[in-house]
Amino acid sequence: MDTGPRSPISVFPADFAWGVATSSHQVEGENANNQWAEWERNGRIKSKDCVGFACDWWRNAEKDFDLAQSLGVNALRLSVEWSRIEPTEGQWDESALARYRQMLNALHGRGIRPFVTLHHFTNPQWFEAKKGFANPESIRLFQRFTQRVVGALGDLCHDWATFNEPNVYVSLGYFLGEFPPGKKGRVMEAAQVTRNLCLAHAAAYRTVHSLQPDANVGWAQHYVVFKPRRPESAVDRWLCGFIQRRFNDNFAEGIQSGRAPFPLNKFGQSLPEVKGTCDFVGINYYSRLRVGFERRSPRTLFFQISVPPHKPQGDSGIEVPYGEVYPQGLRQAVEHFAGFKKPVYILENGVPDREDRIRPWAIESIVSQMRGLLAEGIDLRGYFHWTLTDNFEWNEGWHLRFGLFELDPATQARRPRPSAQVYKRVIRESRLQRVENESWPSETAAVNGNGAHSVEAHSVKKDMLR
Ligand code: FCB
Repeated sequence: MDTGPRSPISVFPADFAWGVATSSHQVEGENANNQWAEWERNGRIKSKDCVGFACDWWRNAEKDFDLAQSLGVNALRLSVEWSRIEPTEGQWDESALARYRQMLNALHGRGIRPFVTLHHFTNPQWFEAKKGFANPESIRLFQRFTQRVVGALGDLCHDWATFNEPNVYVSLGYFLGEFPPGKKGRVMEAAQVTRNLCLAHAAAYRTVHSLQPDANVGWAQHYVVFKPRRPESAVDRWLCGFIQRRFNDNFAEGIQSGRAPFPLNKFGQSLPEVKGTCDFVGINYYSRLRVGFERRSPRTLFFQISVPPHKPQGDSGIEVPYGEVYPQGLRQAVEHFAGFKKPVYILENGVPDREDRIRPWAIESIVSQMRGLLAEGIDLRGYFHWTLTDNFEWNEGWHLRFGLFELDPATQARRPRPSAQVYKRVIRESRLQRVENESWPSETAAVNGNGAHSVEAHSVKKDMLR
């Protein structure tokens, strides 16, 4: 695999994956048999919305695949819903697998490369009843599920993410109580769940490769840029460093070095069988957050998350701010995982912005960040915008809108936001620039000795001509 520096001329490689990202529960509709459906039935969605038909993908994903194609994307990330495929333990629903085959075929038919996530937050209820990933048996059960899925879909998919954001799953489910199972402050249980997720990931990684030796397998790592709220305060600085390490590294370090999650590593545990089990690092990057000590917040282990009001941000969550839109942080995210020495895909990036106030700027800015990284030789292979069509945003329900297309869930009508055009244009331009750059190598190289700046100057010049 070529991981060496790229010529600054070919800013976006020809096979760069330009995509949009989704997940089963958020788009399929009528998933009644997972723990999120139960969470909703128990009144835990803050907006009190119901997922209902979501984006109606189970019946008609193809409608949105057409929209994706109209943007010019060549990749799309979706997940398979375990509770559909294995509705009761050990019983497999072949018709669900057939529907996923249909979807993957529909993507290929539109020239779109599918990236399939095996687990995107949802567990079948029978699995949750066995304590989900807190139970060591989960490793075998997830491995068996993976085997079944890859056996059924492997000829149609080459790119796999085992888990989506294990760090979010654990932090919100076992520390903050915002996601099912709704537990708070469970330091030890959270560590055990992270450990089992690491082992399940490694088992799934090996299973995919045993069936598909040349598969491209990784996971989606959520990365947050944390900053102390009061940089002059030693307490805030310490807390910020602590949270940054725990949140961004606990799962990833298992894969990078075989280190067991904190605090299990302090008790002499390690995970040597997990080390090196990835072909790429998938990064989900959204925002920057300030962290401060707050003695009135025992519920959140005495820290509080905030965003200074003057910083660019999209819509706020119902109880908490979503985060500062900070495109420069992408570099920090990519550099943070540079030690893996693996290709990088940005598997999610986006902003909740119903009125599309800052999304166009956010897209342009993140693309410019990627251009800079590529020009420096970073092996960045793809970018997936979250998301195509507004979808059901977990405990925020329909309150937060991330879509390039606006959705009315009641009528299923879609309307493009201005950002859809912006994304379409940046994709088109990235391809044009590549063709043009390839035909003018000497001019580009002559602008100055610094590859990154010469490419920027070159593209700006051409933008002005357009
Ligand atoms: C990510 C999740 C994804 C979606 C976006 C907005 O953390 O992976 O499902 O909710 O946030």
